Amino acid sequence: MIRNRLLLTGLILLVFTSLFAKEGMWIPTLLNKYNIEEMKQMGFKLTAEDIYSVNQVSMKDAVVIFGGGCTGELISDQGLLITNHHCGFDAIQNHSTVEHDYLTNGFWAKNHQEELPNPQLSVRFLDRMDDVSEKVLAGSEGKPQDSIPAIILRNSKRITTEASQKGRFEAVVQPLFYGNQYFLYVYQVFEDVRLVGAPPTSIGKFGGDTDNWMWPRHTGDFSLFRIYANKDNQPAKYSAGNVPYKPKKFFKISLKGVHPEDFTMVYGYPGRTQEFLPSQAISQIMEQGDPDKIKIRDMKLSLLAADMDKDPKVRIQYASKYATTSNAWKKWQGEVKGLKRLNAVNTKQNFENEFKAWVAAERDRKNRYSEVLPNFDKLYAQLAPYAKAYDYYGEIVQRGTDLFTAVAILESLESRWAKLKPEDQALALKSVQQRLADHFKEYNRATDEKVFAALIPMYYNDLDPRFLPEDFKALMSKTSTEKLINTLYRKSIFSDSIKLTALMTDLDLKKLKTISEDPAFILFRSLKNFYEKNVESNYTSIQKQIDGNLKTYVAGIMKMHEGRPLWADANKSLRVAYGKVEGFEPMDGVIYDYYTTVDGIMQKDNPAIYDYNVPQALRDLYHKKDYGRYGENGKMNVCFTASNHTTGGNSGSPVIDANGNLIGVNFDRSWEGTMSDLMFDPDRCRNISLDIRYALFIIDKLAGAKDLIDEMVVVN
Ligand code: ARG
Ligand code: ASP
Repeated sequence: MIRNRLLLTGLILLVFTSLFAKEGMWIPTLLNKYNIEEMKQMGFKLTAEDIYSVNQVSMKDAVVIFGGGCTGELISDQGLLITNHHCGFDAIQNHSTVEHDYLTNGFWAKNHQEELPNPQLSVRFLDRMDDVSEKVLAGSEGKPQDSIPAIILRNSKRITTEASQKGRFEAVVQPLFYGNQYFLYVYQVFEDVRLVGAPPTSIGKFGGDTDNWMWPRHTGDFSLFRIYANKDNQPAKYSAGNVPYKPKKFFKISLKGVHPEDFTMVYGYPGRTQEFLPSQAISQIMEQGDPDKIKIRDMKLSLLAADMDKDPKVRIQYASKYATTSNAWKKWQGEVKGLKRLNAVNTKQNFENEFKAWVAAERDRKNRYSEVLPNFDKLYAQLAPYAKAYDYYGEIVQRGTDLFTAVAILESLESRWAKLKPEDQALALKSVQQRLADHFKEYNRATDEKVFAALIPMYYNDLDPRFLPEDFKALMSKTSTEKLINTLYRKSIFSDSIKLTALMTDLDLKKLKTISEDPAFILFRSLKNFYEKNVESNYTSIQKQIDGNLKTYVAGIMKMHEGRPLWADANKSLRVAYGKVEGFEPMDGVIYDYYTTVDGIMQKDNPAIYDYNVPQALRDLYHKKDYGRYGENGKMNVCFTASNHTTGGNSGSPVIDANGNLIGVNFDRSWEGTMSDLMFDPDRCRNISLDIRYALFIIDKLAGAKDLIDEMVVVN
């Protein structure tokens, strides 16, 4: 009986999962081919043209790339944009001081004049995208393998130059399916983007790094910006005379709330997935790459946390660095766990066997694809030691310590300086001064010294000696950590913000000579040169061969799947993911509901724990149950989960209902599903979104920013 029932559910599941795919980040111009029918069956009421069109205004005109790695969406006819708090974090932090601590207290501009400009921030609207595969690959047929990249580059250059219309647009050509297809993306870039509002960190980052990647979640992860344009509504550099941008399209906001099985769609810019990687790559990530990086960051994070806890100034200084470092660190841990649970290496091997059988069935295929899988064996075995050294260099020398970050700012300049014209020298000096000023704003010597003392010995102890330069080995073999700090760290001008800043008021050969004799400079350059010569060059050349092999492999998979939908890995281009509102079962005996409420915030409330210290204003609103039109059945919803396939870069993406209205802002995934960048599991992969009603509640009731609400179009 039980057996039969299991068999039956198994069958239903099979039919079901193939009917409602859940997995996938689809290219909006190709939706009609496979997906729209499925989306409609799931409840979607609109058409492919409503999502993306070149002939009429469509949803794509309301979605932007926000800054370097997030998504944002327009929510008013005056250029008002919503994204995540963690996406606006740098901007909020840059405007924060101990006196005006917007991180702690939040920020709300009372009028347009108070909105704060952000020189480093821009947003990109997609004007159009086109399949340019034929044009990009033109002239490459029959040419020797190693001449093809140059042909592709030349063709792409011609295409982007033409599409950019003399700088009016930003144009890029990007490969899909490892270069089996190419798409052109043409963007309009707006550079005057001002901060309008952000809740206090105790709301916008409630739960902090403790709750990050986790469900149940109660983070009010949003911030508001406004795009400004010139008088003709065109992009312009910041100017006090600029006016709010009038968008072609903005999202209406639905207060209907979310319910199980509701259709949802996430429309944004996912950064990177690698679903086609072979079993060897997966095993290297699980066994080597992720564990190494986790170990190094374990160390760094515990040292930063100790100092941040002791001193509020250090907390502000290191807030952004800590969040970035801990974010990937925690994701990798979930990823390894998820891959193990999915038996990912085995699953991949099974697929590879299917591929082998498919290849063996036809002579043409044998000629083209039979070497692909054995090649992976060889190549990944060759890559492994270099990949380890590559990870260690990145984690420790390149990004690990503030000391080396400061050295790096001057290191490349030192070798170029003598060849620069005087006017270029002046420019370079100005840029160095600015970068150092930014750097030292987020630097505490005592903290970084501890990090340096912990990380540098790891580089020495963990790496194969053949990847370490002689002078470094000699130094480390006879020096204690204490001595290393005394003779190197404390002697270096790069650890002394005052001295280095004073020295940098001008720059000449003599000063550069002094700098190049600095002990930290000497060590950094030695590590860098040795790495570039002995690790990076080999790593890159093997990786190139792997990519070439992947191109052939994926070409085979595409053939094998002909007539069935196949989605291309995320590459920071506009994608649609669709799914439905649903909870999940993270582990045996546990069922997660699909939504959270302010009640849960109050249950976590604890003034003694930084991440769970609820602001008094929110406590008061909770006690009065003053939720206005945003509440539901006496509760105030905060977040919800759904089965949309998303990844890093999707943060800030609009979560859209069946009618095209905004119901949420995507900001995270569940920890049990973070392997979705490599392998998707429809049972456990869930995206986590902020319920848009909670954002409106905070703006309206907590911040009292009624003007902002009035700007939006709210539907019931
Ligand atoms: N995990 C989310 C993402 O990958 C949110 C990260 C920001 N939040 C944080 N607590 N560090 O970007
Ligand atoms: N939090 C991620 C982001 O910042 C989203 C994710 O990885 O799911 O884009």
